[in-house]
Amino acid sequence: MINNRSITTQFTIVFVVALLLVVGSFFLVLDSVYRTELKSQAETVADNVDAFGTWVSQYGRVWVRDNDKSFLGQVTLVNAPDAAGTGASAPADVWHFYSKNPALAQREFSEVVEKSNSSAKFRVTSHNYMNPVNKPDAFEVRALDRIRANHLAEYYETTPDNFRFARTLYVKASCLPCHASAENAPADVKTRYGTERGFGFREGEVAGIISVRLPARSFWKVATDVVGPLQIALLVSGFLVAVLFIQFAVVRPIKRVTRAAERISVGQQADLGAAGLSRSSANEMHQLILATERLRASLGLAMQRLIRKPAPPAPGGPPRSSTE
Ligand code: HEC
Repeated sequence: MINNRSITTQFTIVFVVALLLVVGSFFLVLDSVYRTELKSQAETVADNVDAFGTWVSQYGRVWVRDNDKSFLGQVTLVNAPDAAGTGASAPADVWHFYSKNPALAQREFSEVVEKSNSSAKFRVTSHNYMNPVNKPDAFEVRALDRIRANHLAEYYETTPDNFRFARTLYVKASCLPCHASAENAPADVKTRYGTERGFGFREGEVAGIISVRLPARSFWKVATDVVGPLQIALLVSGFLVAVLFIQFAVVRPIKRVTRAAERISVGQQADLGAAGLSRSSANEMHQLILATERLRASLGLAMQRLIRKPAPPAPGGPPRSSTE
């Protein structure tokens, strides 16, 4: 029974419980601040990826020279000197141009970032991906499932090492030329990506996601980083200060009053230490000592009166009749 424990033991238990509650609430607050911060970082990354895609899509495709690493279409430009009207027969300049659509450019962007020092990584993926390189991983499959089943605009999870975030991409009318049906898709799309995957989308449907990955340390890693010997020492000092206070302000005075009360109860002299105390003290312990002191004084007076008065008639004496 906790009720029968000493005040110091009870106080220790209360201290530990209160500490756990404070630490718990502190953790919840920190955790939500941390997550909100991670989420807004991930949103910023997704915004940038989206903006980059928009930049490409305002031109339909972007064209780059002499880089056939990955591309959708290709044109060759020949700058014939005759056409310039010089008449000279200098050798013609030949340029090969390769086109990149938004998603392809975003993939190349993500590959560059993947190799960079940036801690935030991203990619664009889909449940119905055109390029097998963009195949979703386990988190992305889960995100796509949840997003499509529950019509979510975003989805996120914290894994032991990462914060994973997915922003939904919807099919717009401008996507349909390439993603609606394989038959109607541009020839270069069919040649490079086949006719099997990445088609059959309708306007308004979920096209895929921008998937962002941020490093996020687990609670225990953060806690062990934040809590060191100094923090523990301060906590223990705080506990000791509180225990000392309880000892000197409550436990010892109570023990003194108890001892004094025991002595008074058997008629012995007892000093409660009330001499220096003020009657107007707000300290409850002082008031208890003063009240006990008054109790002791009035007990003493009552005893003196009892001793001076003659003894009352013995209970066994002749009864007085009221009819006399
Ligand atoms: C010019 C044709 C074209 C248009 C228009 C187009 N896409 Fe794509 N899309 C592609 C190609 C090609 C890929 C594969 C890129 C790669 O190699 O990573 C692709 C890839 C994607 C991917 C990544 C997953 C996958 O399929 O590999 C998503 C998501 C996507 N497109 C969504 C869209 C959306 C949304 C729009 C409209 C806003 C759109 N696309 C417009 C051709 C197109």
